Amino acid sequence: MISLFDPITIKDQTIKNRIVMPPMCMYSAEGGYATDFHVIHYASRAIGGVGLIIVEATAVLPNGRITNQDLGLYEDEHVKSLKWITKQIRQYDSVSCIQLNHAGRKSKADGKLMAPSAIAFGTNDVPVAMSIDDIKEVINAFRSAAHRALEAGFDMIEIHAAHGYLLHEFMSPLANKRTDHYGGILENRSRLLREVVEAVRDVFPMDKPVSLRISAEDYVKEGLHPTDWVEAIKLIPHGYVDLIHVSSGGIVLVDIDAYPGYQLSFAKKIKRETRIPTIAGGLIEDPFMASGVLQENEADLIYFGRLSLREPYFPLRFAKQLRIDLPWPKQYERSKK
Ligand SMILES: Cc1cc2nc3c(=O)[nH]c(=O)nc-3n(C[C@H](O)[C@H](O)[C@H](O)COP(=O)(O)O)c2cc1C
Repeated sequence: MISLFDPITIKDQTIKNRIVMPPMCMYSAEGGYATDFHVIHYASRAIGGVGLIIVEATAVLPNGRITNQDLGLYEDEHVKSLKWITKQIRQYDSVSCIQLNHAGRKSKADGKLMAPSAIAFGTNDVPVAMSIDDIKEVINAFRSAAHRALEAGFDMIEIHAAHGYLLHEFMSPLANKRTDHYGGILENRSRLLREVVEAVRDVFPMDKPVSLRISAEDYVKEGLHPTDWVEAIKLIPHGYVDLIHVSSGGIVLVDIDAYPGYQLSFAKKIKRETRIPTIAGGLIEDPFMASGVLQENEADLIYFGRLSLREPYFPLRFAKQLRIDLPWPKQYERSKK
């Protein structure tokens, strides 16, 4: 039976357990640069035993930041401050991943507000509908950022196509009303996503894993549903994406009936129908529930977001609760009960 503490190998990376820290913006960067806070923050979770650490949404262009305090990889100089993070994560035996993002019409950062169509999110400003040159700039920016992520030492890259940011905006008929070959039928709405994945793969070696974060459900009838994502993922060349990180919502403001595991059915469908491993989660904080999800083969890894903010060493507690004798960080061995 699969345990939360069994390793999993994806391409050239072996993740020591199934516990994932999902990307969570800390809004503490300065000019896109990581600070000492980031190094301590991510190193603590690695010491705490998280198997896969996905560093927060990191912008590929200045106007792709959610706020001016987001991390960036839009300049070569950004690489240096991120190297410290990957070094620490590796030193404590975790796998490092970075989420690359363009915030599209949800950006509150300086610069031109851009989106597939001139439709505002909530009460935000109305964005400019992107020209073909704007689209090319974004694709090139993802390629350059992926190259810098490799230089910074990341083992894995995650492409952010969830939560109402640019790639999700192109995918969803709620935000994309274009009439060119980036709008209309799903094959067109998913074109930018494919072009971004291909650009990332131009520079990020095929033997290294790439994850795709998606909002599987828009919670509006006219929006996206898991079936649409299955179709879009199947259009991506085989082997380009190795993990689907399943979240939901964010494209429009709607009330979501959220409870522990509320997104699991989406992850299960995506896994079954694409045959690509998934990371599932959402309000899951119980190690027994998480183990059950793995044992039922509903997902391959589980993410714990707010729990990992609240309690950086939660994997050590989980092991104890599951009666698994995990080696502790040697500095803390005398505190192990
Ligand atoms: C402070 C904070 C920042 C977040 N930033 C990101 C982000 O950068 N990228 C992303 O995909 N999701 C982001 N999320 C969503 C989380 O990755 C996760 O999906 C969400 O917290 C639900 O999981 P949980 O119930 O285990 O916390 C953020 C969540 C929080 C609480």
